[in-house]
Amino acid sequence: MPVAPSRWSLRTRLLALLMLLLATVSLVIVFVTAVALRGVLVDQLDRRLREASGRWDRPEPTFLQNLPSFPALPALPAPAAADSAATAAADSAATDSAATAAADQPSSLSPQQLRVRRFFRGPVDPGTLGAVVGEDGTYGAFIDTAGEGKELTTAETAVVAGIPAYLRPYTRAFGDQGDYRLLARTTHDDMIVVTGLPMKQVNATLTRMTMIAGVVALVGVAAAAIAGTAIVRVTLRPLRRVAATASRVAELPLDRGEVALSVRVPQVDTDPRTEVGQVGAALNRMLGHIGAALAARHASEMRMRQFLADVSHELRTPLAAISGYAELTRRTREHVPADVTYAMSRVESESARMTALVSDLLLLARLDSGRDLVREPVDVSRLIVNAVNDAHVAAPGHRFALDLPEEPVTVTGDPARLHQVLANLLANARTHTPPGTQVTASLTVSGPTAILAVVDDGPGIPPDLLPEVFQRFARGDSSRSRAAGSTGLGLAIVAAVVEAHHGHVRATSEPGRTAFMVELPRCLPPSETVPSEPARLTGPTHPDRASQPAHR
Ligand SMILES: Nc1ncnc2c1ncn2[C@@H]1O[C@H](COP(=O)(O)OP(=O)(O)OP(=O)(O)O)[C@@H](O)[C@H]1O
Ligand SMILES: [Mg+2]
Repeated sequence: MPVAPSRWSLRTRLLALLMLLLATVSLVIVFVTAVALRGVLVDQLDRRLREASGRWDRPEPTFLQNLPSFPALPALPAPAAADSAATAAADSAATDSAATAAADQPSSLSPQQLRVRRFFRGPVDPGTLGAVVGEDGTYGAFIDTAGEGKELTTAETAVVAGIPAYLRPYTRAFGDQGDYRLLARTTHDDMIVVTGLPMKQVNATLTRMTMIAGVVALVGVAAAAIAGTAIVRVTLRPLRRVAATASRVAELPLDRGEVALSVRVPQVDTDPRTEVGQVGAALNRMLGHIGAALAARHASEMRMRQFLADVSHELRTPLAAISGYAELTRRTREHVPADVTYAMSRVESESARMTALVSDLLLLARLDSGRDLVREPVDVSRLIVNAVNDAHVAAPGHRFALDLPEEPVTVTGDPARLHQVLANLLANARTHTPPGTQVTASLTVSGPTAILAVVDDGPGIPPDLLPEVFQRFARGDSSRSRAAGSTGLGLAIVAAVVEAHHGHVRATSEPGRTAFMVELPRCLPPSETVPSEPARLTGPTHPDRASQPAHR
């Protein structure tokens, strides 16, 4: 499909404009040259015409009186007379080749040709046209290029008779003979003598010159197109280098972490004296500016993380003290009023909740900074069995099912963090669904990837929450969520842990089916996997979240 000129590349547009300009200039040059040349040629012809006009005079009146176009007088005598007339013509025009030819072969001349011979009394060039316009009639003839004389037809005679005697040449067309330049003058006895010369030569020269100039122009435009393509390509090469730099920057992950924005336009393309150099220099300035901004952003992020990690860490000690003292009041043998007992139990449960929140924040801060990850072979099948056992104990009202492959599946990673991923997903499946919900934890293998899935047939995640469900503090505002005291960090931790393991997590949800799929790179080759222990129905063994509230 042809592309609109507005969508052409700069190179194509430049070339097209250049070609258009060149073609127009060439056309104008060819046209102006042709017009000028025609003027010169016609001037030369006119000079020859004036000379020719001065060389011959109109024939005697007796000759004219014998002409058929002057009907008042009798026609020319018989051929014998014509012969003698031809001889006379040959005598009077020794330099006339046509007349000489006639003298050589007098018997072959027709009366018409004889009349023409007698009509042109002076030396005349081949192609010359002569005519006499009198009151009684008009007679005209011309010598063709072969030197043969011919009388003008009636129509041609009429054309000649129409030439004004202003001593200025006129151009007229004569059918097969082509264009003629005609000059009329008045003789002393008020007759008009018209002389004409053919423009065939002028027109042929013009046509030939125009064709040659046209071909030269065409070749020139084609050569300019080839040279122009090469020149434009070379000229625009720096622009391509600048574009390549911009593309390289576009491919960099700038959205997070420390970004080393070291890509720059090469020095050679940043000369401010050239247009491309200005673009290159501006791009480099912009990259420097963005690099500085990104570095500042990263530094501020790092400070924020450090602050969060420090705060979380510092909060753990007072929180442990609060829950410890609360527990102590519960154990005292002294009588404690009921409302104080209730208040202390609230202090205990809220401090436990806050401890969980603080450890979540600390964990996220550590994952963000890329620290704190153990890397060892982990038997995922066993991990799932343990996590589901924990969930089953925590929510007896839900129905849990396992779907595991025969062979153990191993990934490399941190067993405690991976357990936490499963625990969080299973905690969601039971805290955000009503009792009786079916929850299935499955494990499948697809090539080098292990896929862990936690699927439930609960009410599903609200559609507006689904796209950002892995964001920090993103949570539904359902009464169940509120009752569960959720913080909205569970899935953020899942995403951060999975990402730290070079994996991928995604969620799909609709009423009746909510699925979380965790893809983790498998530990390959299989010979490196750690032999799995037989699955046992045991309590939680993981250190971190085992002590968390029931939904953890
Ligand atoms: N299986 C599920 N069914 C329905 N809604 C879910 C499910 N899993 C997650 N959600 C929704 O996604 C929100 C975010 O979950 P996330 O685990 O990040 O936070 P939370 O469970 O609310 O709090 P936390 O896990 O930190 O205690 C939840 O509040 C809930 O509305
Ligand atoms: Mg949760």
